Amino acid sequence: MILKKSEEAAAQLRMKKVVAIPTETVYGLAGNAFEPEVIQQIFDLKKRPANNPLIVHISSLHSLSEVARYIPEKARILAEKFWPGPLTLVLDKQSTIPAIVTAGKDTVGVRVPNHPLTLQLLQKLDFPLAAPSANLFGEISPTLASHVVQSFGDLVDVLDGDFCERGIESTIIGFEKDEPILYRSGPIAKKEIEALIGEVREKTKNEISPEAPGMFSKHYAPKTDFYVSHDIANLQRKYSDKKVGILSFSAQTKGKNILAQEILSEAKDLQEAARNLYAAMHRLDKSGVEVILAECVDDVGLGKTINDRLRRAAVK
Ligand code: TXA
Ligand code: MG
Repeated sequence: MILKKSEEAAAQLRMKKVVAIPTETVYGLAGNAFEPEVIQQIFDLKKRPANNPLIVHISSLHSLSEVARYIPEKARILAEKFWPGPLTLVLDKQSTIPAIVTAGKDTVGVRVPNHPLTLQLLQKLDFPLAAPSANLFGEISPTLASHVVQSFGDLVDVLDGDFCERGIESTIIGFEKDEPILYRSGPIAKKEIEALIGEVREKTKNEISPEAPGMFSKHYAPKTDFYVSHDIANLQRKYSDKKVGILSFSAQTKGKNILAQEILSEAKDLQEAARNLYAAMHRLDKSGVEVILAECVDDVGLGKTINDRLRRAAVK
């Protein structure tokens, strides 16, 4: 069922139900973070491997100490600047957070989402909400209530908060011996973070997997074969015998075999491109084409994050 009011979602969540909630990044599949059985339902619904921890959502920085036992100074600076907003901090967890939420780790991912309905909802509840993105494991993330319904049908109620303003999963920053590390790129660029707290290390693929197990498998992927390149014309030549769908940054592509086409931002605005990305991927995936050919965007700032998601979608 589609819910319109935060109170309706609050009532379900208090009864230990899982409810999909809107955030400014993507929709989340939310449940009471203090209740292991509820969290188990989330893993089951998503078909998510048990070694991939969930992000805990809180209503404000004031509640952070209920979730995290120790807050490095640099983490506090970032939280003060970017919350509510698309930044997840990985911090030492409080013992009240069940092991299932953090996949047995001593750390917990936590953020204050910036969506009016979900902020209202969190303020009504006396528990935080653990929520992964509301898609089946490995599939395209949801940025509309209808995307969630497509994945879960009647199995979960969805609090409808319209489209997700930022459209891409939060930036994740962890701390090792108080040193900040980027675990996942997101709407907040590494540079913006470094301007506040100095150098942020980026982990190599091999290093990162134990910290963020969800990161390096195939991810955000359509069911249709998906290829990505800076050179869309070259891809087009390669797949000239197929019915293709095009996902491009700003320009129209011409060709007889193009059956569907999505342009992320005619104005070459990376924010707009991020906002449109997943909805465009969902539409192309349903359009009946044989392959989707995607063009990389400008590789600066948020563009790096969009390209990261495109490349993950193309992993075979
Ligand atoms: O924007 C977002 O972050 C969205 C909305 C719903 O908040 N959530 C989201 O959740 O993208 P999910 O589950 O799709 O991705 C969470 C990522 C995973 O890659 C997971 O490995 C990482 O966060 N993560 C969570 N807790 C962690 C921890 N304690 N240590 C390292 N990585 C963690
Ligand atoms: Mg996800």
